[in-house]
Amino acid sequence: MAKITSHYVCKKCGRVEETLHKICPICGSSDSFERCIVNNDGGGKTFERRQRAFPSGGVSEPLKRLDEVEVKESIRYSTGLSELDRVLGGGIMKGSSILLGGEPGIGKSTLMLQAIANISKEHSVVYVSGEETDMQVKIRSDRLGLDASSISLFSSTKLASIIDMLWRERPSVVVIDSLQTLSTSDLDSAPGTQSQIKACTAALTETVKMLGITMFIIAHINKDGGIAGPKFAEHLVDTVMYFESAEGLLRVVRTSKNRYGSSDEVGVFMMSEKGLSCIDDISKAFAVERVGNIPMGIVNTVVQEGTRAIFMEIQVLCTPLKGANRRIYSDKIDVSVVQRVTAVLEGHLGINLSQNDIYVNVAGGLRLTDRALELALAVALFTSYNGIELKRKAAFYGELTLRGEVRKVPFLSKREKCAESMGFSISVSPEDENSEEDESGITHYKLDKLENLFDVINRINE
Ligand code: TYD
Ligand code: MG
Repeated sequence: MAKITSHYVCKKCGRVEETLHKICPICGSSDSFERCIVNNDGGGKTFERRQRAFPSGGVSEPLKRLDEVEVKESIRYSTGLSELDRVLGGGIMKGSSILLGGEPGIGKSTLMLQAIANISKEHSVVYVSGEETDMQVKIRSDRLGLDASSISLFSSTKLASIIDMLWRERPSVVVIDSLQTLSTSDLDSAPGTQSQIKACTAALTETVKMLGITMFIIAHINKDGGIAGPKFAEHLVDTVMYFESAEGLLRVVRTSKNRYGSSDEVGVFMMSEKGLSCIDDISKAFAVERVGNIPMGIVNTVVQEGTRAIFMEIQVLCTPLKGANRRIYSDKIDVSVVQRVTAVLEGHLGINLSQNDIYVNVAGGLRLTDRALELALAVALFTSYNGIELKRKAAFYGELTLRGEVRKVPFLSKREKCAESMGFSISVSPEDENSEEDESGITHYKLDKLENLFDVINRINE
């Protein structure tokens, strides 16, 4: 027979208690408990099991029509770093949780400290450091010349004490540095293990969502790119950003997931002893100044990364085979793309690259995924293999099919304008030709089949 029982639920935070409390032990609200009658269906659900199954004690919210949902204004704010705002989709979304991953030493803590020094001018910020002592954080902040007077520090690696602090202080922004140092006493496993990472991220994201706090969680990834730890946390957060190194002192932040913006944006920074500075004009930062002919194996294109067009130089070197089998060395363009483009060249231009090792590089060291670079890659392989130089500055745009066709790419005119600003006013693509210069000053050469590549190169070199 059904048994009627009752318990008490905090209206503010959903905490369930068996007896009536004046003050909620979790959120500290007074007189917030409400009696809740439960018709126990005899299914054997004890109070504890019910609490686990229904964190709100089984009290559910009424349904809401989508057009009744209120959209609040001013829910984004700036980090003061334009490149970080860009990858976040135009600033931080209030109440969102953001995971920042990257290899140890790449600059995660530096980036976060710079961002919160800016944010703390208008919003309350707590920096939770489980990796560095308060003194180390202070020394770093002084070295970077930051005004950190409004940043509060909290040194703890215990999940419960961090959650208590969040309920007590309710800052606008919290930074957790780092996920791998956190642990909850509910689990026996060591900090950094899969179960700890999952449990800590879940508890923190739930807490900050309830309190409207914006949270950055810093997480380390392995040197080999294996994102062992943070992978388990990715689905729990709203935004996932990864910090990568490019050439020299350039650093790149990419989003791989963003509930509040595009997930293919890149932010580029330059590292110095004074910290990270934003690079707005990346094309210039990545460009290689050249005088005279374009050397063989060097071909230019413009890739579209998020909202931004970036002028790129692809470099290829084909050398005689060293081992028994051909090897492709390419860490900025996926090796499978290089293999496919090589196969298309071999299949449709009759060249034989099987006796060559192939080295592929991208000037500036940005990792590229835009398929529009396939034609430029093919041309770089072709000119390196045949020892051909381009006598005029031309940029190439096209995706390749396995049948050797060159396909059109999106945003062509935007790409062409970007290349033109770098002095490359010849555009090779499958679009229709205008042998005369059009009003934009760009000369188009049509290339819709790879087998016509040699002719087009001859025309450029006329
Ligand atoms: P750090 O931010 O501690 O890296 P992470 O948190 O990812 O492990 O940076 C590593 C080191 O590099 C640290 O000694 C500071 C130094 N650094 C600079 O001097 N300038 C910079 O612009 C950055 C990003 C780092
Ligand atoms: Mg760090």
